[in-house]
Amino acid sequence: MNEIRKALFPVAGLGTRFLPATKASAKEMMPVVDKPLIQYAVEEAIAAGCDQLIFVTGRGKRAIADHFDVSYELEVELERKSKNKLLEQVRSILPKHVSTIFLRQPYPLGLGHAVLTARPVIGDEPFAVLLADDLMLAEIPVLSQMLDQYRRYQTVIVGVEEISIEHSNRYGVVAARPWEKGIYQVSAIVEKPRPEEAPSNLGVVGRYILPARIFDFLETTKIGVGGELQLTDAISRLLGERQVLAYLFNGKRYDCGDKLGYLQATIAFAQRHPEVGDAFSEYLAQLSRSLLHRFSLEEST
Ligand code: UTP
Repeated sequence: MNEIRKALFPVAGLGTRFLPATKASAKEMMPVVDKPLIQYAVEEAIAAGCDQLIFVTGRGKRAIADHFDVSYELEVELERKSKNKLLEQVRSILPKHVSTIFLRQPYPLGLGHAVLTARPVIGDEPFAVLLADDLMLAEIPVLSQMLDQYRRYQTVIVGVEEISIEHSNRYGVVAARPWEKGIYQVSAIVEKPRPEEAPSNLGVVGRYILPARIFDFLETTKIGVGGELQLTDAISRLLGERQVLAYLFNGKRYDCGDKLGYLQATIAFAQRHPEVGDAFSEYLAQLSRSLLHRFSLEEST
């Protein structure tokens, strides 16, 4: 296998957990503080050395392509008003050495189907998949951590986190044997198992390094859980012929496809934001003091 240069962003899901916000606009364009989710994922891929970005989009997702395109009118206006810092920010969304391709998934038939849609542009190379609604807070970007492992092991890698078993039906869950620190050898993978059927507490998150061979399996995998073509099911078949590793990344994942996860991410990222971080942290401290005060008053009455 070679160095990974292609990063695939499946962004064609309906985002039903965020309706009505996602009725006419893309879940991946929802901002956390001041950047859309998809920009965080793109920055993570570029930081890991990917320079070919492939987006699988669907209906109502044009804003994603526009976000990564040059906005001539905006740039002229910012220049005219000498808003140089903002101009620089807008211009640097996509570095010059990085190229983009946008594909359409005509029907939202599942993550596996979205990945399969990219077959003609991925070709024979191994590639990374990033789900933008899994927002990562990590000192070393999570995809970079995974590519370090990939360079060592040259095999299929899925990102995992430790989950509470009662939430197993929200994840693909692996059966895996510890191998090295943070690395597990996967022997089985199941999509959304019930807690009593979960093979472990290691849940797959939206970061994968996959070989082109996955497409052969996706072509012939049957529709799975939720009536969708599941990437997990194709990875399960890949296990028959390749070593698949699970990598317990360093950092924290926020499920921004879910309202609570999105709110938690907003708080975590706002506290660290260079512009508003200090003021926001101060506000949170004040808020928690007044909440504590209220609770102690309630308890004493
Ligand atoms: P989700 O499981 O979060 O589904 O997809 P969803 O449709 O986006 O959201 P809900 O569950 O209805 O709220 C995981 C990722 O796979 C993409 C999504 O855009 C998201 O990044 N996806 C999913 C596709 O690209 N196509 C699909 O058919 C399904």
